[in-house]
Amino acid sequence: MSSSGRTLLVLFVSSAAVLLLLERLLHPNPRERNYELLTEMVYSKAAESLDASIALPAGMTQQAIVEGVVVRGQVPFHYGTGPEEAVRAGVELTNPVSDGPQVLARGRELFGRYCALCHGLDGGGRGPVVERGMLPPPSLLAARALAMADGEMFHIVTMGQGNMGSHAAQVTPQDRWKLIRYIRSLQEPAR
Ligand code: HEC
Repeated sequence: MSSSGRTLLVLFVSSAAVLLLLERLLHPNPRERNYELLTEMVYSKAAESLDASIALPAGMTQQAIVEGVVVRGQVPFHYGTGPEEAVRAGVELTNPVSDGPQVLARGRELFGRYCALCHGLDGGGRGPVVERGMLPPPSLLAARALAMADGEMFHIVTMGQGNMGSHAAQVTPQDRWKLIRYIRSLQEPAR
């Protein structure tokens, strides 16, 4: 080995030894977390959604949802409000949920929670709010509801109609279809 090679080797080994020694001195307990340098690069700062931003379009951190984006787990519903759209939904949509004891039990639970206050537990239209003076909703056992397509009911529950509000936020699409199965079971004796 040449003398310059030897010098290099000595330099390398001694600087490694110095670094190891330094590490030991600064960080005597290996079970403890080590020193962190340049932490800004390790832990990026999360931006608050309503903060101003120097990097994002329009200076806003929270950007508007891109058109056409579907929220994960949500089925797109391409209908506007109003009775015509409800009728169209009735023609185009079929109930994807099949009948069965579990579906009816779930539908019954939801009906009791979200619908019976107006429609009554039996669907007859005399729920507690009607007893207290609200105009009664149409009976779900009457001819109109008996003849109504599942998709039209789905539209009414999803978008609301007249004095009835939308229940899209409270009841998932799958549960709405289960509710409709349950309404059909309520209607059974009236058929
Ligand atoms: C705030 C009271 C209220 C609640 C709660 C309510 N509804 Fe209604 N519902 C009404 C009214 C009022 C109408 C009549 C709407 C109209 O003017 O066409 C109606 C109409 C309907 C119709 C159409 C009936 C027809 O013959 O036109 C269906 C189906 C229906 N509701 C189902 C439900 C279901 C299912 C729920 C529970 C998720 C529910 N409703 C919750 C008040 C309510």
